[in-house]
Amino acid sequence: MDTVDAIISRRSVRLFLDRNVEYEKIETVLKAAMYAPSAVNEQPWHFLVINDRKLFPAIMKFHPYASMLKTAPLAILVCGDLEKEVAAGNWVLDCSCASQNILLAAHSIGLGAVWAGVYPEEERMNSFSSLFRLPENVIPFALIVIGYSATVFSKQPARFKAERISLNSWGTLYE
Ligand SMILES: Cc1cc2nc3c(=O)[nH]c(=O)nc-3n(C[C@H](O)[C@H](O)[C@H](O)COP(=O)(O)O)c2cc1C
Repeated sequence: MDTVDAIISRRSVRLFLDRNVEYEKIETVLKAAMYAPSAVNEQPWHFLVINDRKLFPAIMKFHPYASMLKTAPLAILVCGDLEKEVAAGNWVLDCSCASQNILLAAHSIGLGAVWAGVYPEEERMNSFSSLFRLPENVIPFALIVIGYSATVFSKQPARFKAERISLNSWGTLYE
C-alpha cells in the first residue's frame, strides 16, 4: 500500500474478529515503531506486548475508553524510558511518532488498530504502572489495541481544510 493511501485510509478500529495476530505481524509493527524519528535519535521507548486476554478486564476497569479490548486479541503499551531520554522533554514526542507508526504499519499489513489514550491522564498512567509493575523510569504513554478489523469502512471522512493553511504570512490563503 502506498504510504499516503495508508495514511488517508487508516481508521480507528474498535471491533475485532476472533482471530489472533501472527507473531511476524506483531514484529513488523514493532519494527515500524522503532524506525520512528526521535529527538537526537534517542529512541527512548519500550513496548509491552499484551496478548494474554485475561489482563484486559483489569485495564477496562480503570480505563473509561478502552471497551474495544472486549474483542481485541492484542495490545501494545507504548512506554517512554526516561533513562534513555537525552533531550529533556522529548520522550512524549518520540513516543507519539512511534505510536503513529504502529497504527500505520498495522493498517498497511491488513490489521486494524486504535490508540487508547494513557498519557497525560495521571490516574490511567498510575494504574498501568502498578498493573504491569513498571520501573519508575518507565512511563506508560499509549495503549495501541490491535487485531483483525470486524468493521468495514466505506467512506473516507473529508478532512482537508484549505483554510487551515497560510501562505508566507498568517491568514493569506494557500490556494
Ligand atoms: C492521543 C489520543 C488518544 C486517544 N484516546 C482514545 C481512547 O482512549 N479511546 C478510543 O476509543 N479512541 C481514542 N483515540 C482515537 C481517536 O478517537 C480517533 O483517532 C479520532 O476519533 C479520529 O478517528 P480516526 O482515527 O478513525 O481517524 C485517541 C487518539 C489519540 C491520538
